[in-house]
Amino acid sequence: MVARGSASVFIGQELCQNGQVINILQTMTTDLGAFHPRYNPTWLTGFPWIMKLRMRVIGNYSPQVVQCRRILLEALTPEIDKRRSCASNNDLNWQRPDDMLQELVENATPPPGQDVYTFIMNQLLFLTFASIHTTTENGTIVLYRLLQNPDVLNELLEEQNDVLRQEVFTTIDPDKQQNGGNPSHVFTADRIKKMTKLDSVCREALRLRSQFYELAHTNVTNQNIVLSNGTVIPPDGDVLINFWHNHHNKKEGKYNDVDSKHIDVNEYDDLAEFKPFRYVNTGYPSTKVGDDYLVFGEGKHACPGRWFAMQEIKTIVSVLIRDYDVRAASDIVFPIGSPGLPFGKVTIVKRNIQ
Ligand code: HEM
Repeated sequence: MVARGSASVFIGQELCQNGQVINILQTMTTDLGAFHPRYNPTWLTGFPWIMKLRMRVIGNYSPQVVQCRRILLEALTPEIDKRRSCASNNDLNWQRPDDMLQELVENATPPPGQDVYTFIMNQLLFLTFASIHTTTENGTIVLYRLLQNPDVLNELLEEQNDVLRQEVFTTIDPDKQQNGGNPSHVFTADRIKKMTKLDSVCREALRLRSQFYELAHTNVTNQNIVLSNGTVIPPDGDVLINFWHNHHNKKEGKYNDVDSKHIDVNEYDDLAEFKPFRYVNTGYPSTKVGDDYLVFGEGKHACPGRWFAMQEIKTIVSVLIRDYDVRAASDIVFPIGSPGLPFGKVTIVKRNIQ
């Protein structure tokens, strides 16, 4: 669902129907991740330079990567040509697509020696790495929290019903014309935005992600960097932020109460607990980064795709719980450590919706 949803925004309505392309978006990151020495061969982790070189060679020349690039290029080239030709001929039957591919077609500035097709494909590959796997993993975490807390799932169903009911009774719905179906069945961005409990559940589920470290940040200068506590980061040294500590430590964060007064989280002893509605009406949506919420990083390079990712996760969760009766069929376990993805047996039965 994430691969197809993302593809429709990245490469457009037509290409997102291409099964081979979707398959690549779906599997590429995990396939390449499997080459990481963390998995095999682990002894290489003691030799960072060899490790980087190996990953560089795999990233450029392994048969999997070469095949992914070939398939993507073959799919993208005719679409890029078609769009360029329609635009330059002022084709009146052509409607400018509202997707990332179109932005790239119009604004691509490939480096010397690289053709525009390869440049666009590389940009899309980068986007794929940053977006699909991350959104899928975090969406999975939210879903497992709901499976572990069926009462919360039911409350979210009530919330979506309330939002949809209000909309249907109070507005003439444009979706009715576009989708030809029951307007109450469409989760538009505006409707998802009104589901404040759902957003709080997502933030709380991601805060409690059972992982220890944020992505490594490397000192790319050729000088030591001295942190305020005296720690020295040498050139090429990595900094790993202890995500777990920040997300569980009472001193790290502050958030607002309903009246927007600042409350020091020091007052709260419950940060190890999953409290689904902790953030409702606090002014802390699931996309707001901070020292106490490092899911999307922080600062200048905080994830720019987080609004899109949360929109996708919330839409997928909403559709799933509406259309299917999903229940845990065993204990749901949240293992601690990396990657720390939850697991457990689940039954999924299609609901009878009118
Ligand atoms: C739940 C899903 C996602 C998570 C958890 C996530 C997390 C992150 C994190 C931790 C970073 C690094 C921030 C840092 O260096 O401190 C990052 C960077 C980035 N993310 Fe995401 N991301 C998600 C989805 C997406 C999506 C959907 C897109 C694109 C549509 C995206 C695009 C990017 C880009 C382009 C960067 C690099 C930003 C920069 O270096 O300036 N991410 N993301």
